[in-house]
Amino acid sequence: MIVCVCHRISDREIARQAHAGLSFDEIQLELGVATCCGQCESCARDLVAQCCASEPVAALNRENATPAAVV
Ligand code: FES
Repeated sequence: MIVCVCHRISDREIARQAHAGLSFDEIQLELGVATCCGQCESCARDLVAQCCASEPVAALNRENATPAAVV
């Protein structure tokens, strides 16, 4: 299902990013979700929250992760 019509971003793509441990703000930066008309923001935020709630380990791993590619 398309969540963000402006950028053609699906619920699967948002869920994939959330399961990888990204926050809503990071997903917004990465995909551009909710950066145009904003109509999708609450739906996208709910989706990220549901994914984080179902996979708390990913969020913990993200907190303990070291910054990548600091060269
Ligand atoms: S529907 Fe997502 S910014 Fe417009």
